[in-house]
Amino acid sequence: MTVSSPRLTVIGTGYLGATHAACMAELGFEVLGLDVDPAKIEKLAAGEVPFFEPGLEELLRKNVDAGRLRFTTSFQEVGEFGDVHFLCVGTPQKKGEYAADMRYVFEATESLLPYLKPNSLFVGKSTVPAGTASRIAEMLADKGPDGVELAWNPEFLREGWAVQDTLRPDRLVIGIEPGGRAEQVLREVYKPLLDAEVPMVVTDYATAELVKVSANAFLATKISFINAMAEVCEVTGADVKQLSKALSFDTRIGGRFLHAGLGFGGGCLPKDIRAFMARAGELGVDQALSFLKEVDAINMRRRSRMVDLARELTGGSFHGGVKVGVLGAAFKPNSDDIRDSPALDVAAAIHLQGAEVRVYDPAANDNASRAHPELTYCRSAQEAVADAHVVLHLTEWREFRDMDPSALNGVALKRIVDGRNALDAELWRNAGWVYRALGRPQQAVGGPSASQSDE
Ligand code: UGA
Repeated sequence: MTVSSPRLTVIGTGYLGATHAACMAELGFEVLGLDVDPAKIEKLAAGEVPFFEPGLEELLRKNVDAGRLRFTTSFQEVGEFGDVHFLCVGTPQKKGEYAADMRYVFEATESLLPYLKPNSLFVGKSTVPAGTASRIAEMLADKGPDGVELAWNPEFLREGWAVQDTLRPDRLVIGIEPGGRAEQVLREVYKPLLDAEVPMVVTDYATAELVKVSANAFLATKISFINAMAEVCEVTGADVKQLSKALSFDTRIGGRFLHAGLGFGGGCLPKDIRAFMARAGELGVDQALSFLKEVDAINMRRRSRMVDLARELTGGSFHGGVKVGVLGAAFKPNSDDIRDSPALDVAAAIHLQGAEVRVYDPAANDNASRAHPELTYCRSAQEAVADAHVVLHLTEWREFRDMDPSALNGVALKRIVDGRNALDAELWRNAGWVYRALGRPQQAVGGPSASQSDE
């Protein structure tokens, strides 16, 4: 790295920001990360990642130790230090509304504005409604120093694969205003990625913003499509697992994100499709995205279907001392994120209906117990299924997929519902279990199942 390399800052150190900061330091840049939460900053500065993300802690520690990566809570320090500022704050769903809560984006921008150096570059990475970048560009033009520019550079990383997705993304997208230096600066920052032939699309702000939300809308639609087929399979006796496999050989369709099961959750897909619909409404094109309402509805119906199937297996009621063992709480494997987790939603609903629910997740127990203290949390799968009348497999961690059903002892009844279509049905049935799954007949024909996850 040359002496003239830009100094980078990352504002907001959640899943996206912490990963981006560590990865940019790994590329050789001096990086300063900021968060308004001092506890988070203290941890990160000590080389500790405050959430579960495979491979991130090693990278963070390595770069903190090398002195390339530091953390602060001071906007002044960030403004004075940085040449390029990446905005990575969250845009959660507003309470009781579909729209995104944009307060963190605007608060962070306002806080940094007085300290920005002339000719610095502000780069938005947060997922935002179309039109946000133009508003921020106006704020920078009105109140920022001379020569400050804005670029919009959405992020496509998946939790559980965040480091890999940041250092080798499928593509880079950069929204800019013509005539500035933003593209040239970002080409310098992302040079190692461009050298590795990561494609880059350079476009305007609105397109860059839309690439992100439309990508998530497409992925959500693909999942809900196959889950809608699962609903049809359930009444026709067809097998969605085999349907999906057969569809996947058509290269125009492809098999990824075509795994039927309990549906999508997390901090992105559900709230992003809702925010997208809300924005379309504001823009007067709500009809264009009305199909996303159905995508959302199909997704939520899978959760109720799961509860119904579990109740059916416990004889039609959860009352009277029914015990339910739940495997998984995170919204997907390799994550401790429980935001809008289908697994926890199902567990909480079953508890409300009277059952004793015992949950085990390899990484998300702590987060889950804070959000749902009414459930019982266990230290192993074995403990969670003890005396259970039905076991629910709701997050497809490898640990569960590799489980030997004949070694799982002490259940009251050998009954399992595979909410992720990821267990080997035959193996479980051969071990004497009643195996049921979403979108599959009671006695399925055909071989072992693959995982929903990208493993
Ligand atoms: C998603 C996108 O995949 C990323 O590209 C994007 O950057 C990110 O949102 C974001 O906007 O920040 P993530 O939320 O980490 O990433 O999770 P995904 O891997 O997309 O999984 C989402 C949900 O869909 C999970 O609950 C998963 O279990 C479920 N899923 C996934 C299915 O039900 N079926 C599938 O075939 C695939």
